[in-house]
Amino acid sequence: MPARYAIANWKMNLPPEGIETYLKALGAGGNGAARIVVAPPFLYLKDVVSLARSRVAVGGQNCADQPSGPLTGEVSAPMLRECGAEFVIIGHSERRTLFGETDAMVARKLGVAIESGLTPILCIGEDQKIRDAGEAGIFVSNQVKSAAVPPLQKVKTLLLAYEPVWAIGTGRNATGAMVREMVTEIRSALERFWPSRFVQSAPILYGGSVTPDNVADLAANGQIDGYLVGGASLDSRKFLAITTA
Ligand code: PGA
Repeated sequence: MPARYAIANWKMNLPPEGIETYLKALGAGGNGAARIVVAPPFLYLKDVVSLARSRVAVGGQNCADQPSGPLTGEVSAPMLRECGAEFVIIGHSERRTLFGETDAMVARKLGVAIESGLTPILCIGEDQKIRDAGEAGIFVSNQVKSAAVPPLQKVKTLLLAYEPVWAIGTGRNATGAMVREMVTEIRSALERFWPSRFVQSAPILYGGSVTPDNVADLAANGQIDGYLVGGASLDSRKFLAITTA
């Protein structure tokens, strides 16, 4: 399937070619129809907003689980919106594993993001131990279930990103067939736990060591609507090659 969305998650990095050159290349390059979202570190959000061309939207990598308040060091969803972000990544596995985000926090963040008018990109995915135990399906189903917050009733678009923890930044991506199997699990969980309009319509992306070299199998066999890209998104040529796969 051609990608409908391609998200560049810079994490705590900047593209070596420079922000301006990078965004010029994204604006000019590629003939794919994918909606491109660039998620820079917070400090660079406004720079990316002002340099982004029409095809490119901007997203936060995270947001606080409250709309405002005494939370030193946090950035809220309304602030992201005010700076020009349209999207926000919620529940990335690095947030969950390195910063202790629980399913309950992820659910609160999702609610605040929706209330603030941002389009959430909700990340879910199992780690290696869970996969080895044959419990990947039930694990992601439970993540979907715990994110079933009341504000879902009013969200226009919400993206899900299946991102197995063992594939993130490891150079070991899931195969298209593995992803397809998990997409089926995720759609079945959406059917059971979320408002019915999401079941078929919610775009599901894949993330985890996506590169121009492995994207063809994911595009052909993964049953996905696009990609959430970390490492390879720091190079505009590599990222564009993924968006047009
Ligand atoms: P990666 O990161 O492409 O570097 O594996 C993906 C992600 O964490 O979203």
